[in-house]
Parts: sequence; C-alpha cells; structure tokens
Amino acid sequence: MEAHSLLYLSRADVERVGLDMATIIKLLENAFAEKGAGRVEMPPKPGIHTRPDAFIHAMPAYIPALQSAGIKWVSGYPENQKRGLPYISGLLVLNDDETGLPYAVMDCSWITAFRTGAASALSAKYLARPDSRVVGILACGVQGRTNLEALSVLFPVQRVVAYDIVHEVQEAFVHEMSIRLGIEVIGVDDPQKAVRGCDLVVTSGPILKHPQPTIQKDWLAEGAFASAVDFDSYWASEALAQMDLISTDDYAQFEYYRSVGYFQHTPDPYADLGELVAGLKPGRQSDNQRTLAINLGLAMDDMAVAPEIYRRATSLGLGTRLPL
Ligand SMILES: NC(=O)c1ccc[n+]([C@@H]2O[C@H](COP(=O)([O-])OP(=O)(O)OC[C@H]3O[C@@H](n4cnc5c(N)ncnc54)[C@H](O)[C@@H]3O)[C@@H](O)[C@H]2O)c1
Repeated sequence: MEAHSLLYLSRADVERVGLDMATIIKLLENAFAEKGAGRVEMPPKPGIHTRPDAFIHAMPAYIPALQSAGIKWVSGYPENQKRGLPYISGLLVLNDDETGLPYAVMDCSWITAFRTGAASALSAKYLARPDSRVVGILACGVQGRTNLEALSVLFPVQRVVAYDIVHEVQEAFVHEMSIRLGIEVIGVDDPQKAVRGCDLVVTSGPILKHPQPTIQKDWLAEGAFASAVDFDSYWASEALAQMDLISTDDYAQFEYYRSVGYFQHTPDPYADLGELVAGLKPGRQSDNQRTLAINLGLAMDDMAVAPEIYRRATSLGLGTRLPL
C-alpha cells in the first residue's frame, strides 16, 4: 500500500505564512454564508474539564464548498497566565474530505486568535455603525490584540481606550498596538472609561461560570456595538437587558452553553451570524440601537482558515513532513 505523509506546521510555521486579517475576515464571511444556507456540518463541541473554568474542547466541522474537513483540539486555562503559559493552546487536524486521510496537523493558537477577532469584525460589519471610530478593549491579551486589529480593518478607528486588570499587561498593549496600528491607544485605570463613549467595545477577559460582572447598565452608549468574546462574564444582566439586538454565531451552541450554566441572564439572540451574512435577517436598523455579538467560537471558523494556511505553507515550503 502507498505510504502516506502529513504536513506538521508549528506555531512559528503558521505565523510565517502571514495570512492577513482582511483575508481571514473574507474567508469567514464565505463560510458564514454557507452556514446561513445550511451547508455546513458542525455538531456542538464536546469537551472535558480538568480544572475549574478550564476546558479542552473537540471541534469538528465540514464545509463542503471549501472542501474543508477537520477538527480542532483546543484547551483554555485561565490560570496559565500565572505560569507564563498561553490561555489558549492546541492542535488542528485537516482531513481529505474524499478519503478521510489526515493531511495536515498544525498549532491552532494562531488561527484561534485571528479567526475570533475576524468573527467580531464580521459581526460588527452587520451590527455596528459604519462610522465607528472609538474602540474600547477590556482585557489586553491575545484576543484584545486580534479583535482590535480586525475592527481596524473594517472601521475608521482613530482612538482606542484599553483596560486590563494587570497594569503591566495594559501598558504593553498600549505601547505595542499604538505602534502596530499607528493610532492613539490610551490605557485607563477604570473599566468604565473603556466602555462609556466608545463606538465599539470588546470584552476579552477570562470566561468564568460564576463571574462578578463589571459592565453595568448605561455604560454602553446608545448606538454602540459590543463583542463579548468572553461569553457573559463581563456583562451585568441589566446591561444585557438593554441590548436592542443580540446575535450569536450558532444557536445550538448557545443553547448548549445555556444548559450547562452560562448565559442565565442573557436575552435570546435574534439572529446568528450566518443569517446576517446570508441576508436572512437584518442587521442594525437605526443609529441608536445598542447591539451585541456573542460569538462562542465555531469549529467552522477554524476550518474556513486552516486550508488556506496549509496551501500557502505548502507553496512556501514551510513545515515538516511526517509519515502517517
Ligand atoms: N469566543 C471565542 O471564540 C473565543 C476564542 C478564543 C478565546 N476566547 C476567550 O477569550 C478570552 C481571552 O483569551 P486570550 O487568549 O486573549 O487570553 P489572554 O490570557 O491572552 O488574555 C486575557 C487577559 O484578561 C486579563 N484579565 C483577567 N481578568 C480580568 C478582568 N477582570 N478585567 C480585565 N482584564 C482581565 C488578563 O490580565 C489577560 O491580559 C478567554 O476567556 C478565552 O476563553 C474566546
């Protein structure tokens, strides 16, 4: 029988591919259009939970239009920051959809970081005011960076207000992102200052089952858009009740998380991102609506991006061939 091999791409290999954020947003938009049309296979993610608030999730998806089939095995450990380790880590496997044979294994932390930012920006495309200029970032980690970068691709961002519970982390973010994006980024000592007066707000702290929510009623301005990357951990129920439109990326996963204890005080989403992209439901309808995207993170997001990473890595000669 013929010997098969797969391509292994380390984190450094995936980074070297250098896929740009605008392309990632486009890849996600195509995938969500497929999802809106009902052409994506993606069961809600099963997981194991080895420590409080930690998870290791299995995330399979098949997008026929992209001939993309595979699975991500990803962990999230809030306590890792204290160990100097990343919150999110893991691997992604791509399978040939014709034969089922795995043809690539890659680090998934880069893709997770970038596709999540891209999903926020894509939601904002439908739910935020196009003239949004001021961004509030609460939690200046990996997601704070990629979410800001993605929003800057689609919106005329001029000013960023950043808050993190760890002062040095916030300072590093301010320094790095002001240089990288060439815009004004200021750090604040009170989370309220990173919400009030902002057009676009991203919360990207730890996901906690029993959080003590920070953002209160009336902090988010009328007409603003927010993306809750950290589920409902950062938002008080009275602030959530004020939202005019709440979207998610997948109803089934939203209901699943609700059944295991999250989103107990979050109103039902009126649309999922596939419906918005496919034009099945309208996005923002007036300039004074408060809108919120709760994207839980889908295997489909990863499978939209990973084959492009593989193709570019192959043409650049990156990675290590391993026998199967
Ligand atoms: N929805 C999705 O698709 C998706 C995908 C990936 C990650 N996430 C989630 O995004 C979150 C951030 O992940 P990351 O990779 O950026 O982690 P990270 O460790 O790089 O960043 C988290 C940051 O939160 C800060 N923080 C902790 N408590 C805070 C508080 N009360 N107020 C303000 N800041 C606080 C930490 O100092 C740290 O800088 C995690 O909850 C992760 O599970 C969601």
